[in-house]
Amino acid sequence: MEKQEIRTFGRRHGKKLSARKQTLLETVLPAFSPKNIKNTGNLILEIGFGNGEHMRDLSIRNPESIIIGAEPFMNGVAALLSAITNESDNQILPEYKNIRIWPDDVRKLLHDSNYKFSEIWVLHPDPWPKARHEKRRLLNSDFLKLLSEHLDKNGQIIIGTDHWEYFDWIKNEVTKTSLYASFPPLSVIHTRYQNKNMAETDAPKYMILTNQ
Ligand SMILES: C[S@@+](CC[C@H](N)C(=O)[O-])C[C@H]1O[C@@H](n2cnc3c(N)ncnc32)[C@H](O)[C@@H]1O
Repeated sequence: MEKQEIRTFGRRHGKKLSARKQTLLETVLPAFSPKNIKNTGNLILEIGFGNGEHMRDLSIRNPESIIIGAEPFMNGVAALLSAITNESDNQILPEYKNIRIWPDDVRKLLHDSNYKFSEIWVLHPDPWPKARHEKRRLLNSDFLKLLSEHLDKNGQIIIGTDHWEYFDWIKNEVTKTSLYASFPPLSVIHTRYQNKNMAETDAPKYMILTNQ
């Protein structure tokens, strides 16, 4: 990161991992580094993929694209690795060959690269609902401007959250940028966090941001 960034995520490690997941992190994860790709084909980014349900959906729906996922919570990274590899030999399942994993803060990846994405997904970003934690919210105007620099010509940032107060807060942050917002109805698979519905709202709200 260029400067000391405020930490936007909670724990990096949760409950103890199974032996297989520990092995996957130690021996298989390096092969998924986005540093190994040449920026030629279409790129899609998911930020804070949690356990990776939507990453897998993106991978299958976009077999010709490279899907990069950023997630600093290592139990989530291990859960995704476990779901996309063969249990007997830890080899990548063919349908997920286009997945790359950045197991860290996405801002480090973006500051250090010139990747341009056709889609940038952020589903259920940590809402940090307490007023004293508001500065930890990831989707502030500075971050949105950083994302806008990494969109390709017709690129889109797709944000979804069931925390409607955070949604409105993000809408206000967008007004401090040159991004254009629209609010189409979207059908997106249910992620683990969405199923928890901690905000107890009726449904997630979605917005799409573009560079006009
Ligand atoms: C509330 S969870 C949602 C996870 C997943 N998208 C879902 O819907 O189940 C938010 C995730 O964003 C991740 N996150 C927070 N700050 C991040 C950052 N700076 N870079 C990448 N991921 C981040 C957290 O580690 C956490 O797993």
